[in-house]
Amino acid sequence: MYKKELTAIKKANRLRNREVFSDDLVDFASNDYLGLSENKELLKCAYERVLRYKYHSPKASMLVNGYHQIHKEFELYMSELCGFEESLVVGSGYLANIALIESMVRRDDILLLDSEFHASGVMASKLAKGRTYNFSHNDEKDLENLLKSLKYKRAIICVEGVYSMEGDLVNPKIFEVVDKYDAILIVDEAHSSGSVGENLLGVFDLYDIKPKKNHIKMATLGKAVGSYGAYIQGSHEIIEYLINRAKSVIYSTAPSVFDIALAHEGYKYIQENRESFLQKKDEIFTLVEKKFGFIQKSLILKLEYGDNQKVIDLKELALREGFLIGAIRPPTVKSAIVRIILRLSCEREDFEKLFSIF
Ligand SMILES: Cc1ncc(COP(=O)(O)O)c(C=O)c1O
Repeated sequence: MYKKELTAIKKANRLRNREVFSDDLVDFASNDYLGLSENKELLKCAYERVLRYKYHSPKASMLVNGYHQIHKEFELYMSELCGFEESLVVGSGYLANIALIESMVRRDDILLLDSEFHASGVMASKLAKGRTYNFSHNDEKDLENLLKSLKYKRAIICVEGVYSMEGDLVNPKIFEVVDKYDAILIVDEAHSSGSVGENLLGVFDLYDIKPKKNHIKMATLGKAVGSYGAYIQGSHEIIEYLINRAKSVIYSTAPSVFDIALAHEGYKYIQENRESFLQKKDEIFTLVEKKFGFIQKSLILKLEYGDNQKVIDLKELALREGFLIGAIRPPTVKSAIVRIILRLSCEREDFEKLFSIF
């Protein structure tokens, strides 16, 4: 039925496949930045907490009776921790971006997406009622030009805290432009929550920006926190609006109760062990600087080669040495890169051995 399409994908050398990798490989490829997905203590704590309740599954949408005490306690904890008025759990980051963009960008509004924004935002923009524009990656001047020249009721701007492929941080000047034009800013912290900032809470923490009414944060739980799901943070008005208008919140079963309990344990653990994570991060960033000569800002290390075959060869060489890394090629990125996740749970010797390949 889809033979023709598959043949075209194969011909373009873009056929993807899934693989179960051996647990013996040292993982420098996943988004488990802090190694929490191996932490069985957190798993046990979450399990025991869920056991105390009559219901361990959400059973329905949050707008029916799927909202669980475990969801509520996690939201309250995260609001307090990050300084937002309210939080809202969502099934996944993909669903969260769809929820935000589809419901918030109304007719006469404009959506301004950073050109490197995640695929979920691009997909959501097709469902939005307003007009969509891209601004050059991290370019606050290009953003300002658009805000100056276009006519609109509301402007909704989407950026990532740490960009998922390149590993660069959002330009802090974008926050200033947002305020100057009274726009709404959505910060996707999928790769920054749990990995940057003095409290490892993401870019608001890193840049010491106190959340305002026009700030919205989205963070995922399947990366640094070692669970699955996502949450959105914002003002009371924004969260109330989403609960009433966001279709992927209203017409979807509430997030997994166990996964939210696990994420809650994960965030508590990160706060309790903040110092040791920051220390290990410094140590690894120093290694990167010595080896590659640049200053690393996030836990995503990008090595640009621009040659598809070269990055595949390097990935295979690393595999033979027992290391799992990413070889990312167009169209996911503009030019081929090796992507190494500096997982803080990996041993220093493994970092050294891996770096010696390059
Ligand atoms: C920047 C970014 N936003 C959103 C998502 C989607 O999150 P989730 O995996 O929870 O659906 C991802 C990737 O997974 C991502 O990298």
